[in-house]
Amino acid sequence: MKCFVEPSDEVIMPTCSFVGAANAVVDRGARVVFCDVDKLTLNATAKAIEEKISPATKAVCILHFGGVPCELDEIVELCAAKNITLIEDSATAVSSFYKGKACGTFGQAGTWSFDAMKILVCGDGGMIYVKDADKFKKLRQNIYLGLVSQSGFTNSVDSKWWEFQIDTFGRRSIMNDISSAIGLVQLEKLPKFIAKRKHVAELYDSLLANVDWLKLPPPLKDYQKSSYYMYHVQTKNPEDRDRLASYLRGKNIYTTFRYYPLHWVNLYGQKFEHLPNAEAAALCTLCLPIHQSLADGKLNLSAGK
Ligand SMILES: Cc1ncc(COP(=O)(O)O)c(C=O)c1O
Repeated sequence: MKCFVEPSDEVIMPTCSFVGAANAVVDRGARVVFCDVDKLTLNATAKAIEEKISPATKAVCILHFGGVPCELDEIVELCAAKNITLIEDSATAVSSFYKGKACGTFGQAGTWSFDAMKILVCGDGGMIYVKDADKFKKLRQNIYLGLVSQSGFTNSVDSKWWEFQIDTFGRRSIMNDISSAIGLVQLEKLPKFIAKRKHVAELYDSLLANVDWLKLPPPLKDYQKSSYYMYHVQTKNPEDRDRLASYLRGKNIYTTFRYYPLHWVNLYGQKFEHLPNAEAAALCTLCLPIHQSLADGKLNLSAGK
């Protein structure tokens, strides 16, 4: 059974992706091809993806920037028409929905992260969803050293249940019981976390509405539900963005830009690319603090002063 991506295949992903997604492609011996993003949402679009499709394109790996779902109908349709595997990096979209369906379940595979910076935090770890039953079986083997049985009790060899064979050299990428137990408790709290993040985002929306030198994130469409993982503002020019970041840092307020365009990272060897929207966004976008423990009092901004 073939994997989603074989060496020498091409995988398209938005240049504003997490470095781990691109590294996984390279680790597989495949070639990563970066596409542009929408200037305001920083999500990949079907049009930007289509521009990068070649006969070698095997998969597309999108992410839902800040928890806001991509325009999935168009992307799913494009991938289906071109017979390209769709993988959703849903690390930022643990509770994001597009037309009522969970992000991460539109393509052939979806991944989630539960690391320390995410919404649902387990210390570390993550989750993978794979639609195809055979690929899922193979994945289960791959994430646990190639082993099929989980314990001697489930080994089909009745006597001598310690004997085994493997048909793949898998790695050990399973979560441990302690992280999983934390995850189950976090899962119960997830709706509260999302509600708090939504509240913070709405507070930013109203407090910053009249700041004429800041562009706020586009309003959600009625069929999009966000996880409110990030909240980003955009300035008219790079100098204002950098000045704002330094000013806030001086006040001990941490802001950042995610995700620094990967075609600008030397090791990928793709500096020749020109992806104008991503480049403009990378110079003028700033992600403001947003998390479920942020007290309203800390958001008492005196914007514009
Ligand atoms: C979009 C995105 N994908 C993937 C990851 C990686 O998650 P992990 O390190 O848990 O694999 C991150 C982490 O920051 C992320 O932001």
